[in-house]
Amino acid sequence: MSLPSQKSSQMKACEVERLLKLAQSHLLPHISSADDILISDYLPPQKLKEGLGLELPTRGRGEKGLEEILRKVLKYSVNTWSPGFMDKLYASTDAVGVFSEVLLAVLNTNVHVYQVSPALTIIEKETASSIARLFGFTSIHAGGLTFPGGSASNSTSMIIAKNTLFPETKVSGNIGYRFVVFTSEHGHYSVEKAAILLGLGSAAVWNIPVDKEGRMIVPELESAVQRAKQEGYTPFYVNAGAGTTVMGSYDPLNAIADVCQRHNLWMHVDGSWGGSVVFSDKHRYKLEGVHRADTITVNPHKMLGVPMTCSFLITGDTRRFSKATSLKAAYLFHGDEDEEEVFDMAQMTMGCGRRADSLKMALGWIYYGKEGYEERINHAFETASYFTTKLSQNTNFYLLSSNPPPCLQVCFFYTPEGALSTNARKNATTTRAIAAKLIAKGFMIDYSPHPIHGEFFRAVVNASTSRDTIDRLISAIEEHVVLEN
Ligand SMILES: Cc1ncc(COP(=O)(O)O)c(C=O)c1O
Repeated sequence: MSLPSQKSSQMKACEVERLLKLAQSHLLPHISSADDILISDYLPPQKLKEGLGLELPTRGRGEKGLEEILRKVLKYSVNTWSPGFMDKLYASTDAVGVFSEVLLAVLNTNVHVYQVSPALTIIEKETASSIARLFGFTSIHAGGLTFPGGSASNSTSMIIAKNTLFPETKVSGNIGYRFVVFTSEHGHYSVEKAAILLGLGSAAVWNIPVDKEGRMIVPELESAVQRAKQEGYTPFYVNAGAGTTVMGSYDPLNAIADVCQRHNLWMHVDGSWGGSVVFSDKHRYKLEGVHRADTITVNPHKMLGVPMTCSFLITGDTRRFSKATSLKAAYLFHGDEDEEEVFDMAQMTMGCGRRADSLKMALGWIYYGKEGYEERINHAFETASYFTTKLSQNTNFYLLSSNPPPCLQVCFFYTPEGALSTNARKNATTTRAIAAKLIAKGFMIDYSPHPIHGEFFRAVVNASTSRDTIDRLISAIEEHVVLEN
């Protein structure tokens, strides 16, 4: 094997072709076997260390080495293309997703400054403003950019909020402010992580109680804000959920916007999971009031099947992003600082190097159209409500989600005795044991703790989940080997 520097571009192209063919000969069978195989060999971590036997050699092992490790990685990986993969808020990508990852790999572009990424910078800006328009932002400054995940988008929104509402803190730090932020009891942990990152501490996050459906109780938010002010805190940020992680609830955005407006608080909507319903005319009503938010996180890598990771932070006014985060770094940013429109995208983030994740969304959008995404979302919601209806009619199950569910998670207990046991430990043991056994039957579903009754199942429906998959999952749970208490 010769070094890249010793090869002509023609030779490099031939080498890429050879390796792509090698990859293809293993990857296509992996995808096509997904209906039958969720994972070929699921091992606990210590055994897997042995199984993988990863050795990083002194002398390169070339294609042979690659083929060996490729086989092992596929053998020991969860096949997210499998219909039984219903464990997390993402599943497999699709053909156009793979196509876009290959394109990104070939371009190997860093979208930090325009000079090195002209086409992908424009694509990022245009894609973000198209999403912003879907959310109802009409200003010419509406738009956004991508971050490496929903947590990163959420924490950046908090930094932008603080530096916009209290500009002096960008330079001088938190200077005696006792900042507090609000989220519902069901908010994602990234809000607390963000508070830690900002130096506020996790105790600066005040959790607002939720109703039976898991939605923030807005009068409780109003009282918490008033109490914070009376006690000398400085409230500045409310995180409203659009599709919470466990129950999939949508907080009442208009009512939350009223509170934010009254108290001059930054309203952020964490739509990492459920924000994608903005593509569906049928389901976008769940987001009523979202256009009143200051920032919105939405992760197309979850509900839309865009490859991991693709997360946008969207706003009605991108000028606030650059004002809140930019620094003079003349060795990198050569643009005119007074220009209203920023083309060096890293000027709107706390980072530097950036992957062009927006390209994956743009190519998916071009391939399927908004209509294609709408169809995908509507189909998934129909399947989720088929699932909740089936469970509600079967005494072997206790349905926690409402019917139909607010989003694509279906939460339930298995109740073979015909009623939910009052023994939380027993419920949790049953749930965990069945979840573990389901893997061999081709299903992977997660579980989560209930405040009173122990752990329950949380199965996540995605665009390729069929009614047949739901029927098979229900039977697989009912047919599990009898468990010991
Ligand atoms: C509501 C919500 N917000 C944020 C996140 C974090 O997103 P990511 O995993 O992309 O960091 C998740 C992840 O599941 C989520 O459900």
